[in-house]
Amino acid sequence: MLPVNIPTLHEIVKLREETDTVKTFSFYAPEIAGICQPGQFVMVWVPGVDEIPISIALALQDGQLELAIADVGDCSHRLHELHEGELVGLRGPYGTGFTLTGARICMVAGGYGAAPLRFAAATARAHGRTVTVIQGARCATDLLYVTGFGDMGCDVHVSTEDGSQGQCGVCTAVLEALLHGGAAFDSVLTCGPELMMQRVCELTQQAQIPTQLSVERIVKCSCGACGACDLGGYLVCKDGPVFTAEVLAQTEFGCWTRAKSGKRVSVSAPGAEKAELLSYPLRDLTPEPEPLLQTSVCGIALSNPLLNAAGFGFSGRLLYRYAAAGAGAVVTKSIGLEEREGYPNPTFLELEPRSYVNAMGLPNPGIRDYGIELEEARHANVPVILSIFGKSVEECCSVAQIARECDYPVAMYEFDASCPHSEFTAVENNPPLLSAIVKAVKELVSPKPLAVKISPNIGAPVGLALLAQQAGADAITAINTVIARPVEHRLELPYLGNPLGYGGKSGKDLTVGGKRIVYELYRELELPIIAVGGIFSAQDVLDYARNGAALFQIGSALVSDGFEVFGRVKRELQEYLTAQGYTNIGELVGEAHRR
Ligand SMILES: Cc1cc2nc3c(=O)[nH]c(=O)nc-3n(C[C@H](O)[C@H](O)[C@H](O)COP(=O)(O)OP(=O)(O)OC[C@H]3O[C@@H](n4cnc5c(N)ncnc54)[C@H](O)[C@@H]3O)c2cc1C
Ligand SMILES: Cc1cc2nc3c(=O)[nH]c(=O)nc-3n(C[C@H](O)[C@H](O)[C@H](O)COP(=O)(O)O)c2cc1C
Ligand code: FES
Repeated sequence: MLPVNIPTLHEIVKLREETDTVKTFSFYAPEIAGICQPGQFVMVWVPGVDEIPISIALALQDGQLELAIADVGDCSHRLHELHEGELVGLRGPYGTGFTLTGARICMVAGGYGAAPLRFAAATARAHGRTVTVIQGARCATDLLYVTGFGDMGCDVHVSTEDGSQGQCGVCTAVLEALLHGGAAFDSVLTCGPELMMQRVCELTQQAQIPTQLSVERIVKCSCGACGACDLGGYLVCKDGPVFTAEVLAQTEFGCWTRAKSGKRVSVSAPGAEKAELLSYPLRDLTPEPEPLLQTSVCGIALSNPLLNAAGFGFSGRLLYRYAAAGAGAVVTKSIGLEEREGYPNPTFLELEPRSYVNAMGLPNPGIRDYGIELEEARHANVPVILSIFGKSVEECCSVAQIARECDYPVAMYEFDASCPHSEFTAVENNPPLLSAIVKAVKELVSPKPLAVKISPNIGAPVGLALLAQQAGADAITAINTVIARPVEHRLELPYLGNPLGYGGKSGKDLTVGGKRIVYELYRELELPIIAVGGIFSAQDVLDYARNGAALFQIGSALVSDGFEVFGRVKRELQEYLTAQGYTNIGELVGEAHRR
């Protein structure tokens, strides 16, 4: 069986124009149609262009899958140019679905928000529920699936802003009128523009009706790795896209969203005062004392030696969640001088179980706009390591200088010298440049420690680590991802959106090689080693520790095993250390070299 995390080519079986901007695409995709729930989404790949998230508009027992796609930008426009019989890649289903609660369900749809609600309505009707649909659009020709909802036996109410069909005005006014008129609903589901859904929540909160919303954020990896879809520390691709109104009330929903770079952007109505780009307040965490696991590296005290790996999320909220799940310190996304969107999708694939490849392309909001995230991460009360990158001495120094001038609350810096699928790989390939950057950045960030992150992609990672040590590095982080270029064989095209199809492998394929490199680093270096690469279990941590690592970063396991991996690995470590009579994990560090 193919893993679900690679796009599989499917023919467009049927195309139907629904409105001026929306077409329904039909596919035969039994592997998705057979298991999906209303509210879930798929990723639609146009080879050589991009891959975008689209909600499932209908899935039938015979394998038919329907998607309603609006022509809004590059990829969706290219999709609209395709014809029946042409191929696109599909993968999924992803995310959470709607819970169809109660006998009387009301669904409020704006624009193509009617798509997931159509699947929800069909399912609810098949289970004998009463469904009221309120649908709004700018004008009659923008209304989507109105007849279809009627044919299912739903009670359909329509509103258009220009009055060309149904009630003149917005759909939330129709909901308000129905509620004031005494309409009783057991639950409300909604999908549409964010401000419309926010108004739905105000109305249903007053009426005390449980409400679920299908929300949109930028989706890149689609499976909880990159954090692009962050919404208040929740991941829309994994924890959503369907959320309850109560959960969203404690997030930035309705105030701001994020650009492809991760930068915060207001979602205020045109002309309205811009909402502040601040989050719902966070309570300070108090890390538990963990005597068997507590440690100190480069003068920084940690309650335990487990961290997240750089790049698994960039928001302060997500870093806070890692700490709440048990991380002893957290590492940011690599942050550069300027805002970067990263590469088009696909950016993340699962080639085999627990074996991944990514080509994110270092998306980040830029160092000047990163302070707000670090302020939020501060509430986690664990040391924060700021990962930085740049391709010249000047660029790297500017990043470090800005972080220092802004007095960012970080305990340590990690210089990512080794992203294997971006132009920044040039640093690792140029030892004198690496040396110069480390020396200059160290001077700027001192007295805070600086770790340098290397990969096995160059012939002699240990030699490079020695150079970094000579240049003033305080620790070495090993290893970054291993360069790869996966290809779709039917089209003979690379899967990944990186211009040359390159990406970096992570996960289980790195476990053995990473441990070997850490062993060699410990033999040659005098610096603490931060291990990263294929850590899934306490056994992996023990192996890396015996080979010489003092701290342990977990990346891919966050995708395969969830945030619970921190708690599980810590429990397993504590059991092992107690059973074997160790008093602290530090006693294991480098043990393999003392035998
Ligand atoms: C879970 C989910 C389900 C979705 N379901 C549908 C659906 O059923 N039908 C449909 O037509 N669209 C749906 N979308 C939105 C769709 O994914 C975006 O419109 C699409 O990615 C735009 O890509 P593009 O290359 O055409 O446009 P771009 O050129 O990338 O962008 C065009 C505009 O759309 C914005 N945009 C891009 N991606 C997103 C996004 N993920 N969310 C919100 N705004 C975005 C950009 O900021 C820009 O303003 C869904 C999004 C999510 C997250
Ligand atoms: C989606 C993704 C994004 C990443 N982004 C970064 C990054 O910004 N900076 C960095 O130094 N490493 C980055 N990495 C590499 C990881 O930090 C880590 O070195 C690698 O994934 C190996 O660890 P793992 O096998 O536990 O995933 C990224 C990896 C992935 C999968
Ligand atoms: S898109 Fe959700 S975490 Fe990457």
